Amino acid sequence: MSKTATLQIDDASFEIPVIVGSEGEKALDITRLRQQTGYITLDSGYGNTGACLSSITYIDGDAGILRYRGIDIAELCEKSTFMEVSYLLIYGHLPTAEQFLHFKERVHHHSLIHEDMKSFFTSYPGHAHPMAILSAMVCSLSVYHPKLLEPDQSPEDRDETVTRLLSKLRVLAAFAYKRSVGEAFVYTKPELDYLSNFLHMMFTTPMNEYFPDELIRKTLDVLFIVHADHEQNCSTSTVRMVGSSKANLFASLSAGICALWGPLHGGANQAVIEMLEAIQADGGNHKKYIELAKDKSSPFRLMGFGHRVYRNYDPRAQLLKTYCDKVLTHLGVSDPILDIAKALEEAALSDNYFVEKKLYPNVDFYSGIIYRALNIPTNMFTVMFALGRLPGWIAHWKEMIEDPGMKIARPRQIYTGETLQAYTPIEER
Ligand code: ACO
Repeated sequence: MSKTATLQIDDASFEIPVIVGSEGEKALDITRLRQQTGYITLDSGYGNTGACLSSITYIDGDAGILRYRGIDIAELCEKSTFMEVSYLLIYGHLPTAEQFLHFKERVHHHSLIHEDMKSFFTSYPGHAHPMAILSAMVCSLSVYHPKLLEPDQSPEDRDETVTRLLSKLRVLAAFAYKRSVGEAFVYTKPELDYLSNFLHMMFTTPMNEYFPDELIRKTLDVLFIVHADHEQNCSTSTVRMVGSSKANLFASLSAGICALWGPLHGGANQAVIEMLEAIQADGGNHKKYIELAKDKSSPFRLMGFGHRVYRNYDPRAQLLKTYCDKVLTHLGVSDPILDIAKALEEAALSDNYFVEKKLYPNVDFYSGIIYRALNIPTNMFTVMFALGRLPGWIAHWKEMIEDPGMKIARPRQIYTGETLQAYTPIEER
């Protein structure tokens, strides 16, 4: 007989089914709690709420473990590529050579956007934030593919939607960048791989055709692999929430991009660099900012520190720290803010406040320094994160949409407002 937990409310007791995941994670299944007891659960920020069963990503935040489809993140960074990881996340297994070739060909095949869309970009002011452009463009892309908006797609149409979006998002991101620097748009090149093409579109000018070298391409691969999925984070939950109404993938991703934008989530990589620059401009006294972060009367937080699920070092931050050193040495860049970042990390890791609250550098702490060394402008950092997170969002949307038991997401609340009161005419108020 399967295990249950007993809930006692007043004189009544209720049996709650217990669910155990493949890594031993335990949950109380409260799907029928309200019908059984009249109670709901309250969990602001969803810190203790499982929204779904998922077989995509496993995290053990206490042990600093992150695995995609059971494979450790460090092994994927060492041996795989972002394209292969995308396939792994979306289709649930590593591809055979034939499957991988077919996947890459399909992605490459869809690497153009409708020419009319170019005028959308030029309608934005030059200073427009590229996250605003990206989110709007992904949604706008849907109007060119009405056949792919059907809520109950065939598996073939779903595959086409997925590969189109995987391919075109990097084009939209590169065009958003080109718009922001006032340069001509550059198209993909058939002989280049997915990420080299992206960098080529970003940095090629009429004066200079850009091709990334091996270390730069590998670094971007690692950055995108560590960004690729992180189970039910804010933006992925948003994609699932929007998609649960059977909104199409274009709309669901557009919403996910907006959720990622916030500085407490993907926007933290931009916020980290802005914080490090502010410390540098203020004389480089990192200790002053450690004290400020601890001061509860100040809203200041150490950006790039802390995480909802990691109460140990974020394994992604560890990987990126290594690549940060490698890429800066390779490019001969001596960035004073890297020294500030390292001093800040060292000071925080030996400070009681951060130790007791188990606050460690997260993925965003070092990613911004790498992007800066690669000449990616600060307001593009979160766009880079979005491109990396894309296969994860897609995998979660696909997992949910293919679940025959899928339900529209609709949380409840505990109402704390006025009880019934009469309307007072304005002259009597
Ligand atoms: N600096 C200073 N204190 C912090 C920080 C920080 N960066 N992060 C958490 N704390 C403190 C909080 O003030 C709180 O203290 P209290 O218990 O005395 O009230 C305690 O640590 C717990 O913090 P919460 O905000 O309750 O933790 P939560 O899990 O809700 O938030 C979050 C996690 C949003 C990431 C938070 O740590 C934070 O704001 N970090 C900075 C922003 C950041 O780097 N975000 C990127 C996260 S990674 C990603 O999304 C890709």
